[in-house]
Amino acid sequence: MNNRRVIVKVPASTANLGPGFDTLGMALSLYSWIEMSAAEKTTFRLYGDQMQGIPTDKSNLIYKVAQLVFEEAGVVVPELDVAMYSDIPLTRGLGSSASAIIGALVAANALIGNPLTDDKLFQLATKLEGHPDNVGASLFGGIVVSAWDGERADYVRLEPHVKLETLVAIPAFQLSTEKARHCLPTQISMADAVFNVGRSSLLVAALASGELGLIRHAMRDRLHQPYRAALIPGMTAILESAADYGALGAALSGAGPTLIAFVDETSKSKSELEQFLLGTLKQEGIVADTMWLKPSSEGPVIIVEDSASSAPDLMERIKGEVVR
Ligand code: HSE
Repeated sequence: MNNRRVIVKVPASTANLGPGFDTLGMALSLYSWIEMSAAEKTTFRLYGDQMQGIPTDKSNLIYKVAQLVFEEAGVVVPELDVAMYSDIPLTRGLGSSASAIIGALVAANALIGNPLTDDKLFQLATKLEGHPDNVGASLFGGIVVSAWDGERADYVRLEPHVKLETLVAIPAFQLSTEKARHCLPTQISMADAVFNVGRSSLLVAALASGELGLIRHAMRDRLHQPYRAALIPGMTAILESAADYGALGAALSGAGPTLIAFVDETSKSKSELEQFLLGTLKQEGIVADTMWLKPSSEGPVIIVEDSASSAPDLMERIKGEVVR
């Protein structure tokens, strides 16, 4: 096996953007890093708070996903040296698992000379994650509109408007996607379906054409947010009133509990909006962190080095880039 070392930087993502349940995703300027090389014996170096409790044997997700790539490509790389660091909080609705899946797919593919196309990686990632929204955004960057029929995911990537910025309020509690999907109904009314088709279509058109003023009307949803509201106290008030505090629109980020407001980066009311989000959550007894994030136009950034032995440690390499 070659002694190549691959380092991949992958963006976080926000899914749904309100009405586009399991369909819309946008990459965000918060990242995780995976380093991978072939080894004689499998080892893991997991850095930072987000990695606590993550397995360091061959049941590790990164290892398993990498093996899937090798299998697809018909090559054998049984032992890997893997290092990982992430600034993306776990189970908060910012696509941490999607970014890990994409990082593992892209790193493993680069390690063996990129035999799989991006489209193939997207299909594999969608199957692994169960929906294409977060993985599409982390893989292609920007805004990704995708539809999956259980077999194939098709997508279109849109370039985010240059003035688009987001404010995320990340509650201090975790909410598993499984729990947040469990509370959804199995059937909905025709009126709610039409409501969401209208909003989601309008949102995609507004984002594609740069009509940011339409976002506040287009971000409304009746498919999932109303049912998830009970799990995130303060959410309903924030979604209803964020636009009155200067947001272009607001939504639950993915399955939550993070809330995301879209903002014109030249807005004069950024601190009022931030105070409104934090104050509303605080009234409900919820402690939250806020972050201002830009859409990430780029998907994974890949570095391939040829000599594995003399390179600096992952943390040494990325120390100027990490947030936490
Ligand atoms: N579209 C998914 C959901 C995103 O809302 O459940 C979760 O990662």
